[in-house]
Amino acid sequence: MKEKIISVINQKGGVGKTTTVINLAAGLSLQGKKVLVIDLDPQGNATTGLGLSNVQNSDKTIYSVLNGTRKISEVIQKTQFENLNLITSNVDLSGLESETAGDSKRVFILKNHLMAYLNDSGVSYSHILIDCPPSLSLLTIMALVASNSLVVPLQAEFFALEGLTQLMKTIERIKNSLNQNLNIRGILLTMYDKRNKLSGQVENEARDYFKEKVYQTVVPRNVRLSEAPSHGVPVLIYDKTCPGSKSYFSFTEEFLNQEKLMETAA
Ligand SMILES: Nc1ncnc2c1ncn2[C@@H]1O[C@H](COP(=O)(O)OP(=O)(O)OP(=O)(O)O)[C@@H](O)[C@H]1O
Ligand SMILES: [Mg+2]
Repeated sequence: MKEKIISVINQKGGVGKTTTVINLAAGLSLQGKKVLVIDLDPQGNATTGLGLSNVQNSDKTIYSVLNGTRKISEVIQKTQFENLNLITSNVDLSGLESETAGDSKRVFILKNHLMAYLNDSGVSYSHILIDCPPSLSLLTIMALVASNSLVVPLQAEFFALEGLTQLMKTIERIKNSLNQNLNIRGILLTMYDKRNKLSGQVENEARDYFKEKVYQTVVPRNVRLSEAPSHGVPVLIYDKTCPGSKSYFSFTEEFLNQEKLMETAA
């Protein structure tokens, strides 16, 4: 399988997961890569951030796939951006955990649907990016089982590293039991404020501990990044010269270079 399936994950809320998914997807698609974003968060922020609706009662969502009523091919929607497709989400998804309580194999549902789609449809994407909710519950485990690699956004603020131990343990556990191929591609520092000493401290700690797993690119705190979603466009398109855009362009480049290195090493 040539598709790279990458989850953007951190159980801490508001650390920049969705912003990273939207702008990495935009950056890759602007480079001519064919990208599918799967919004796996009942909040549906990646959905609205890419200009689609997260209103309830739509059955063209990831929820319809996970509850067995639709196939992946039936729920993929085009965005207004070239090379960038989306599977939307809405609050219906929050019911999935209790609805599937009797299914002992439920952690494989997403993976199985994706594999079936990629094997049978003849469609291919270079990258599939999954936006995870801020928890380590069923949806996130489904994403960990379905992915080959992970990007972890880390907010360069106080308490940032708290909770990472639990995240790392969960990733190890999934790797040892349900998905041997899983690896952490990298940790991306977000909301970095160079006037704030804490940002530098978090960066130093993260680099000391996670070494080269921490991307060189650092995403600054930038108000344009928080404005773009209300217009339903990635910041890379909303204002391509702002500091936030520059950082996500540079992250995309670093991400693709990392891929080239991984391929030559393989
Ligand atoms: N670098 C940044 N500078 C300024 N604002 C940012 C930055 N990154 C994200 N934001 C804003 O911060 C808020 C949280 O970001 P985002 O939604 O990407 O985080 P998240 O981890 O996906 O949150 P959740 O856990 O709720 O899904 C959003 O309003 C977003 O627009
Ligand atoms: Mg989010």
